[in-house]
Amino acid sequence: MSLGIFKQLWLCQSTGYLALLLLFVSQLLAPMRRLGWVSPKFHLLWRRRCGIGAALAASLHVGLGWAGFLAHNLWAPLLETPWLQLGLVAWILLLLLWLTSYPRLVKLLRVGHWRNLHRLAMVALLWGLLHCVLAPWSDPRVGLILFVCYWVLLGLRFGKFKPILKG
Ligand code: HEM
Repeated sequence: MSLGIFKQLWLCQSTGYLALLLLFVSQLLAPMRRLGWVSPKFHLLWRRRCGIGAALAASLHVGLGWAGFLAHNLWAPLLETPWLQLGLVAWILLLLLWLTSYPRLVKLLRVGHWRNLHRLAMVALLWGLLHCVLAPWSDPRVGLILFVCYWVLLGLRFGKFKPILKG
């Protein structure tokens, strides 16, 4: 059974945006914890869930892009299309973060600096955003809003501010 081209495109775009949204939320939880809006336990649990969700959504998105837009042809377009290369790097980073979100696997693979590795989530987000903005049918206004959100998030993640609530 084949999906219509518009349905396929819609699904590809939706899963891409879902991956970006989950990645945003996973990164927003750290400043929310610092502000005292969520507990450390909630932060840890949901950061992991959203991170895994983002990797799953991105993998589904790649599968749909490959089966639809790219007509079962991944490597040739990847080699010559910069916006796809940006997406590939973001996807690889997300897969890496997904793998290292299982403590037993981290132990087995002896990944020493996995905590530092998780800082790469902001890089994956930036690369995913660039890929999205440069995609042929993306709306520049949506891209602009996403970049403003990214800079606000950067400020919240790495800026210095005092918690409002004490817990
Ligand atoms: C190998 C990796 C990837 C491939 C081959 C790929 C493929 C595609 C394709 C073919 C489209 C075109 C559909 C369109 O323009 O509407 C697209 C759009 C999109 N991609 Fe990816 N993608 C990859 C990674 C990612 C990742 C990791 C993310 C998010 C974290 C992402 C987010 C998006 C978004 C949001 C759009 C929609 C842009 C728009 O049209 O509004 N992609 N991608």
